[in-house]
Amino acid sequence: MAQTADYRLGPNTFARGWHMIADAATLGKDPLPVRFFATDMVLYRGESGTPHLVDAYCPHMGAHLGRNETSYIVRDNERIEGESIRCPFHGWRFGPDGRCNQIPYSDQKPPAAARIRTWPVVERAGIVWMWHDMEGNEPDHELPPFEAWDNPNWVRWAIDDLGELPQHPIEVVDNMTDFAHFVPIHGSRDIEYFYNEFDDHVQWQMFGAGHRTLVQEGEGLLELDTWYTGPAILQSSMRGSFPTHMLIAHTPVEDGKIHVWHALMVDMGRPATEDDVPMARAYQQASREAFAQDFEIWANKRACFSPLMVRGDGPTDKCRIWYRQFYNPIDAAPEFQKRVNGRHTVVDKRGEAKRVA
Ligand code: FES
Ligand SMILES: [Fe+2]
Repeated sequence: MAQTADYRLGPNTFARGWHMIADAATLGKDPLPVRFFATDMVLYRGESGTPHLVDAYCPHMGAHLGRNETSYIVRDNERIEGESIRCPFHGWRFGPDGRCNQIPYSDQKPPAAARIRTWPVVERAGIVWMWHDMEGNEPDHELPPFEAWDNPNWVRWAIDDLGELPQHPIEVVDNMTDFAHFVPIHGSRDIEYFYNEFDDHVQWQMFGAGHRTLVQEGEGLLELDTWYTGPAILQSSMRGSFPTHMLIAHTPVEDGKIHVWHALMVDMGRPATEDDVPMARAYQQASREAFAQDFEIWANKRACFSPLMVRGDGPTDKCRIWYRQFYNPIDAAPEFQKRVNGRHTVVDKRGEAKRVA
């Protein structure tokens, strides 16, 4: 597995940013063990329903807080109390701030070292997201709002869990500027415009083209605005009679290996009903199949540390400079942003293609 150091991205092994860690539908009453950023963690809902994310291992004697089925603490349903989680081994209880707030058998006050690490999490659009920052800073930008999720005209997505991919996330992010793959991989034709825009921690791709099967010749364009907010959340808005909003999220499991999810919402243009769900799922399936064409390349390619670029390739060199901001200390991020901010046009037959999203 090619790793962050091999790509010379910066001193931090993992990117700073918001990352998906779970389909919220899979997080019920039981704590959920998760592993991302080479770290074992436990995600659980407090009694309020709010998700919390803590280190998996108890500082007392190292038990896993989320992997147990036979302790009487688990059988008696005593794992979650208020917003706290209780260790199945000797029953120490930890608050969402990570501090031990009860040792059931000891009259000693919990020692200061009885503390586990915690990370900020937000549940939004049916997904649990974590803020990851190796420097330990608070989020420097907002998690995207995903407004369509709360708009009754849209059929909400059901998350596709695409599993793990043994590639560094940079190979996936490269797709943003990879103009030359659209014809062979995705079946585009007659590309009318393609350009990228870098705007600090956000990167855009504006794309309008015909398509082998989805658009009849001379029948207009497929138009997509696609953007990353930070290093790991891609959204794509497609215009058309039923506008769609796609998500691709990827999160490192280890250095050089990611977990990938896909999802899509559809705008019915009037309040959506249960009857609209099958059509929305068919759209999502078509979108997933298009993504699978990228996936097949990634699943079989070797790592690319330095693209051999020619005229006609998109600005992948710029994309990689943009991406390095997330692997460098926050204070250095503006240097990388300044080097790429602005528009980089590959094709624009219309003069000034307009961004809609
Ligand atoms: S190992 Fe967790 S309470 Fe003892
Ligand atoms: Fe692609």
